[in-house]
Amino acid sequence: MNAQPDIVIDTAAVAAATASKSLLRFITCGSVDDGKSTLLGRLLYDAGMLSDDQLDTLARESKRQRGDGSDVLDFSLLTDGLDAERQQGITIDVAYRYFHTARRSLIVADCPGHEQYTRNMATGASNAELAVVLVDARKGLLPQTRRHTYICGLLGIRHVVLAVNKMDLVDYDQATYEAIATQYRQLAQDLGITDVHCLPVAALTGDNVGSRSPRMPWYQGNSLLEVLETVDVATVRADDFRMPVQWVNRPDQSFRGYAGTISGGRVSRGDEIVVQPGVQRARIDRIVTADGDLDSAVEGQAVTLCLDREIDASRGDVIADALRPAPVADQFTCHLLWMGDSTLLPNRTYWLKIGTRTVNARVMSIKHKVDVNSQARLAARHLDLNEVGYCTVGLDDAIAFEAYTANRTLGGFILIDRQTNATVACGMLDFALDRSSNVHWQHMDIDKSVRGASKGQQPTCLWFTGLSGAGKSTIANLVERRLHVLGYHTYLLDGDNVRHGINKDLGFTPEARVENIRRVAEVAHLMVDAGLIVLVSVISPYQSERRSARELFDTGEFLEVFVDTTLAECEARDPKGLYQKARAGEIRNFTGIDSPYEKPEAPDIHLITAGQRAEELAEQVTRQLLARLNAPSVD
Ligand code: ADX
Repeated sequence: MNAQPDIVIDTAAVAAATASKSLLRFITCGSVDDGKSTLLGRLLYDAGMLSDDQLDTLARESKRQRGDGSDVLDFSLLTDGLDAERQQGITIDVAYRYFHTARRSLIVADCPGHEQYTRNMATGASNAELAVVLVDARKGLLPQTRRHTYICGLLGIRHVVLAVNKMDLVDYDQATYEAIATQYRQLAQDLGITDVHCLPVAALTGDNVGSRSPRMPWYQGNSLLEVLETVDVATVRADDFRMPVQWVNRPDQSFRGYAGTISGGRVSRGDEIVVQPGVQRARIDRIVTADGDLDSAVEGQAVTLCLDREIDASRGDVIADALRPAPVADQFTCHLLWMGDSTLLPNRTYWLKIGTRTVNARVMSIKHKVDVNSQARLAARHLDLNEVGYCTVGLDDAIAFEAYTANRTLGGFILIDRQTNATVACGMLDFALDRSSNVHWQHMDIDKSVRGASKGQQPTCLWFTGLSGAGKSTIANLVERRLHVLGYHTYLLDGDNVRHGINKDLGFTPEARVENIRRVAEVAHLMVDAGLIVLVSVISPYQSERRSARELFDTGEFLEVFVDTTLAECEARDPKGLYQKARAGEIRNFTGIDSPYEKPEAPDIHLITAGQRAEELAEQVTRQLLARLNAPSVD
């Protein structure tokens, strides 16, 4: 496949064309079998986008691949290259192709892949206005047609073109086409897509692709290219002004501007704005662009806004119309499309990136997941690759937002795994939960430092992690006794004990452990707030949750103690006989046996227990703790 006729894009020409004509972004949905590659290639050919060189190569390659001496061009060769690259292990999620006609500039997102189709489609659909859904005239609507249409609807696409392809293979039969089109209109309506154009095509022979076909005189409508050139995708624009701040442009003391792309409405000089999620207000002094100052600017334009007074705004803030600001909240309902190879675990902390803002977030609950083929709502405890769920999410900080259906920029987000940096989900915000704006922090006059001072100590959390049987509880117990003798006020939160009370409802699945650690960390945090030195003894097998626990505390307040005992040693000790049961298959999800333990990478205190007595290890911890607390030596 080395001789792929590349489609060379003249970016300058595209930019010029785009400036003077309207732009349509669309996505194609269908598998290779439906003729997607052929249709796309044919479309580019009919739009006159292929150079003579490309045509020559295409003709040569077509002949070579067919091997029958015929002159028929195989347009699928133009775009199938993506699949070939994928097979070679090169990851290309979505390829964008630009082309233009006399009437319009077009950008098509071509999403290859099968097993990860949902993920790729979502990437392509998230900034497309229209989808071309392909079906094979011989097969009619398939489960995948429904799936593609559902995801398009979910991602905010309101215009769909149904291309009933391979009409040549059904003798250009009108009744076959009409039956499929009627069924599809119903399906699209059920899924909330109102603007549907159906047309019969034969991608291989070009019928109704670039021009109308004489072979289907019964079809009176436009060709695919004409539909794409003329379809009206202008949306009823949300007229409230919004602009996420991308960066603060401050070349010297005399200039300060906030740069970004307007994601909704219009802004004019003199308008009053508010910087959200805060409440600071100002007026627009200048609207600066590369081509000079403007009096006003609208959605889609990249501008730098100068304000009439000094304001503390930074990347991630949203500049909004002061009279009609965006809602601000920290808890929402949303749709989530899971793209991660590892499972979504509710209550795990992920980074949520929305607009230009990144904030810590947790999926608090999965209300249901959606069977993408039938739209049935199913109960779910977690989400796997390509699954869609309706969830509640909670953020560490409030953000200015819009419902995704009203503003894709301020309502669309991605989740990023904090350990791997991989994008694991895309999400569509729905609405804020009442409690997010109605529950406030209560101010308290007596705070942690006062409580700590009255006990003569610096409140601290000592977090012991390690395998079951590693010696965590034994060592923590000895440390507490020592601290107690020295007059410190302490509490020992032990995993087994906590599981008899506040965590009685939790087992040992990954989801349950994430929640177990979250609750234990919250309780430890409250105890530190109460002025205590808290010792926590839990396996806490995941790095991600230990990191979230640490983040609850102030700097220096949380000390991770890794009780490093080998699995072989723990198993040899087996104080509760649990390893034996786990090996016999009597208990499942046992840490170290059939459930992972992720070692701390940089624990504050690393106890290598081999050959050491518990008393010595406890002394080691006590010394290090007291040294950190700047306390006098124990000796
Ligand atoms: S954690 O993984 O969620 O942090 P936690 O420390 O609370 O675990 O509880 C671990 C204790 O529960 C172990 O010391 C052991 O006594 C008991 N236990 C019972 N089943 C399991 C299991 N499948 N895996 C690990 N520990 C188990």
